[in-house]
Amino acid sequence: FNLSTQTVSESCPSNIALIKYWGKYDQQIPANPSISYTLNHCKTNTTMEFSADEPFVVQTFLSGKEEPKFAEKIEKYFRNIEQYLPWILKGKYTVHTENTFPHSSGIASSASGFGAIAKCLMKLDEAFSGKTFEEESLRKASFLARLGSGSACRSLYNGLVVWGESDEVEESSDLYAVKYPDAEIHQIFRNFNDWVLLIHEGQKSVSSTVGHGLMKTNLYAEKRFQEARENFVPMKEILKNGDMQSFIKLVEHEALTLHAMMMMSDPAFILMKTGTLEVINKIWDFRKETGLPLFFTLDAGANVHLLFPNDGSEGKIITYIEDELLQLTQKKGVVKDIMKF
Ligand code: PMV
Repeated sequence: FNLSTQTVSESCPSNIALIKYWGKYDQQIPANPSISYTLNHCKTNTTMEFSADEPFVVQTFLSGKEEPKFAEKIEKYFRNIEQYLPWILKGKYTVHTENTFPHSSGIASSASGFGAIAKCLMKLDEAFSGKTFEEESLRKASFLARLGSGSACRSLYNGLVVWGESDEVEESSDLYAVKYPDAEIHQIFRNFNDWVLLIHEGQKSVSSTVGHGLMKTNLYAEKRFQEARENFVPMKEILKNGDMQSFIKLVEHEALTLHAMMMMSDPAFILMKTGTLEVINKIWDFRKETGLPLFFTLDAGANVHLLFPNDGSEGKIITYIEDELLQLTQKKGVVKDIMKF
């Protein structure tokens, strides 16, 4: 181990869960399996410069601006994963990151951020070991990303991705994510739109770390974990046969359950805003009136992910979003993504 300086660059997208992960055990073990769509265009680009044989320290820059708070977080993370990368504390890191989506948009920048960092670390590991980046490294990157932010482990793969042991998904694991088998996915789900309506600016009142923690004392937690596990049974059927109506029902139910869990925590908290509820009601009205497949999911925040397929109805749906739904957002903003795989 005597390579003095190495610079690596990697890019990683964010993801949005359809069956949600909310609640975990020690060592970032999820209380239930989850499945997500990887967002193709919402990415973090990271460059990591490593100078060996210097005292361990991490310096981070977000879009060119130094961020000491983020550096502290990364240092702690590196100390945590030393057992898996024994060289990791033996040098100085300068990390430059930038997101291709607005910073305070509520799009999970921790997922893309830790995904990109984990990929950079695997590249460094390969430079030191002389190995090349292969399937095995991707799995290890997913494993390492999980230890930074749970949902980040799903960002290492494109398309539909599963994290957490499920009887319905072969090779699924609590330790890393796996790609949902392509052969089991109906064409309609391989080309999907996700438009994030930016409802609210500013910091979330409760972090997801605290939110996960509150599931430990939530009286409804066990029932929720069981439900999420069971939801993989219909989800598997739906993904195979392209049943859009059942997909819509299941995905919206998952989103609302996530937020219901927050309301039933002690202390209770609510991350939805007035605009979130207005948009949800408008979507339901629109579906009732037109029958068109526009639906939503939510992250741990106020913004609404608008989901709709490319099945010929997207023109009408886009007009509706632009003419009506956009008026309900504080920032009048939308981040558009298309999941194609
Ligand atoms: O990865 P974390 O700890 O930020 O948790 C993310 C949790 C949700 O986004 C709400 C759900 C999920 O499965 O991504």
